[in-house]
Amino acid sequence: MAANATRKILVTSALPYANGPLHLGHMLEQVQTDIWVRFQKSRGHDCLYVCADDAHGTAIMLAAERLGISPEQHIDIMRERHIRDSDGFLIDFANYYSTHSLENRKWSEEIYQRLKANNHIATREITQAFDPEKELFLADRFIKGTCPRCKTADQYGDNCEACGATYSPADLIDPVSAISGATPVERESTHFFFKLPEFEAMLKQWLDSDTLQPQVANKLREWTDAGLQEWDISRDAPYFGFEIPGEPGKYFYVWLDAPIGYIASFDNYCQRTGHDFDAYLQPGGDTELYHFIGKDIINFHGLFWPAMLHSAGLRTPTAIFAHGFLTVNGTKMSKSRGTFINASTYLDHLDAEYLRYYFAAKLGDSVDDIDLNLEDFIQRVNSDVVGKVVNIASRCAGFLRKGFDNRLASECAEPDLLKEFIGAGEPIAALYEQREFNKAIREIIALADKANQYIDGKKPWVLAKEEGRESEVHAVCSVGINLFRVLMTYLKPVLPVMADKSEAFLNTSLDWTALESPLLDHQLAKFKPLIQRIDPEQVEAMIEASKPSEEPAPNTPSEQAGKAEASTASDTIAFEDFAKIDLRVGLITAADHVEGADKLLKLTLDLGELGTRQVFAGIKSAYLPEQLVGMHTVVVANLAPRKMRFGVSEGMVLAAGPGGEDIYLLQPHDGARPGMQVK
Ligand code: 2FM
Ligand code: ZN
Repeated sequence: MAANATRKILVTSALPYANGPLHLGHMLEQVQTDIWVRFQKSRGHDCLYVCADDAHGTAIMLAAERLGISPEQHIDIMRERHIRDSDGFLIDFANYYSTHSLENRKWSEEIYQRLKANNHIATREITQAFDPEKELFLADRFIKGTCPRCKTADQYGDNCEACGATYSPADLIDPVSAISGATPVERESTHFFFKLPEFEAMLKQWLDSDTLQPQVANKLREWTDAGLQEWDISRDAPYFGFEIPGEPGKYFYVWLDAPIGYIASFDNYCQRTGHDFDAYLQPGGDTELYHFIGKDIINFHGLFWPAMLHSAGLRTPTAIFAHGFLTVNGTKMSKSRGTFINASTYLDHLDAEYLRYYFAAKLGDSVDDIDLNLEDFIQRVNSDVVGKVVNIASRCAGFLRKGFDNRLASECAEPDLLKEFIGAGEPIAALYEQREFNKAIREIIALADKANQYIDGKKPWVLAKEEGRESEVHAVCSVGINLFRVLMTYLKPVLPVMADKSEAFLNTSLDWTALESPLLDHQLAKFKPLIQRIDPEQVEAMIEASKPSEEPAPNTPSEQAGKAEASTASDTIAFEDFAKIDLRVGLITAADHVEGADKLLKLTLDLGELGTRQVFAGIKSAYLPEQLVGMHTVVVANLAPRKMRFGVSEGMVLAAGPGGEDIYLLQPHDGARPGMQVK
């Protein structure tokens, strides 16, 4: 058991919008949360991680409309993809739900009713831009026009990208709706407001209570010092969300029901499992609640959310843990540079544990940005994980197998060294607890260096060649394996798959709570490779695959964060460019699962006179391999081969459909001959 009593901990990370794929920025947060949760579990605590898709809002409604599907279909497809990507990154959710759920409707209505009963809801008329053609109110980012200062055309919302001027959308010259192109008109409507100013005293106390990181508390004090404003929590129909009870045509603003989605996801988990729900919601209990978020949404979590919870008579979070933004190679992620990397693109080329390790090695407890420097990434993972940690086990395992039938010595030849390693456990645990993962990793790698130095000093490869020194080889390698076991216990929250493989090899479980007992006279299993080195070509291929020509547009910017909607007009290509593409009919002669790939199938294609090709295609969600054999597909036959994590892909198959289960290849047809050109 853990040294301290079992804690009951509920953890969340921000709910991703259901309007775009997960990218590495999302993964930074989920990996940070997951490491912390796995650490707590390894210490013997009852720790649950719940999350969900954030499924409401105008952007999602409009995206579904563009795709010709219902918002419900759209969010179902997105949720399935998000789950697949998070799974690929080994994120261990207890529950991954949706804010478009019965539980969330129930809790949103309930909390709203409590706020209303406490006289914390106000209503008043506001004037807003309205699109007379689409018949909907336009948020600032859905209006564009000419900048009143520098006269640059096509500027969105309330600021000019060309000259930096800020203004009211009403000041734009020739404003138009970005949705329909119609000229907006002004229209009045009743809105509902949460009376945030009434919580000034409560929030000031909360900001001073050490619940928040100092930088976050300081930032939020700027809001309280400037005077809190009432918060507009309603939107008019048409809107994809929950209608406000008793107020036809009025909907909860997506940011009202999003954090309530944390409660709803947990409620759903408790219904499914019988876990105690109430203990986590009532003020004054002994349970803990933590929200991991990005620094761009601290006002919602650090002001509005605790005030709402307080008014509703529910507990406030134990702490909010904000992290910084992810940059790649020192700058903002960029589509044209290929550094706006979707989670699924990463997983097509690289192992999730590489990035989990790298993020851990960089993450601290502050809101400083984290840079993924791709060269450093390769170097660090290869040198630390493969060159140092795995090296300890692999160099000892060979001698133990050859000379000692994989059985460890019955005594520890270096009790002080082992004691030092085990003794480092509490300080390392304290660093994990404080989210100082970078410092924990530094300590662990320093120990790995020490273990390697010990083996280097003893030179078992020299001893093994000398007569009568077998027991020394046995002793040294047994110590090495015991040191490795301790290190892998410390790394298990970061590298769960490698820890699983190590557990199989060591024939023991690697929990923090089991640290104290060394493996003596213990049978090991056969050593199998624990992780491969990163090949820089895999990273290059991932960057290539992330460049705009090969990837669909990444995440549309968030409605709630008030970022400008990306232009959806795609660039055209000249006919001569199109003519360069050699499209052929391919007959699928074999289709196989790809180990470790969530969405890929390996296809063997007969291209007639062009021969046979191997292509990796992301169509696993739609077809079973056995359904594919005998089908035809259109193939881009002259695409340069691409090295992927699973092998070389020698072309690309074309299919149609919205994704998920709906991806369609061509049915077998007598008139289709493998290799024939597609006209
Ligand atoms: O910023 C975002 O991506 C939001 N979808 C996060 C919501 S977090 C919580 F409040 F639900
Ligand atoms: Zn301007």
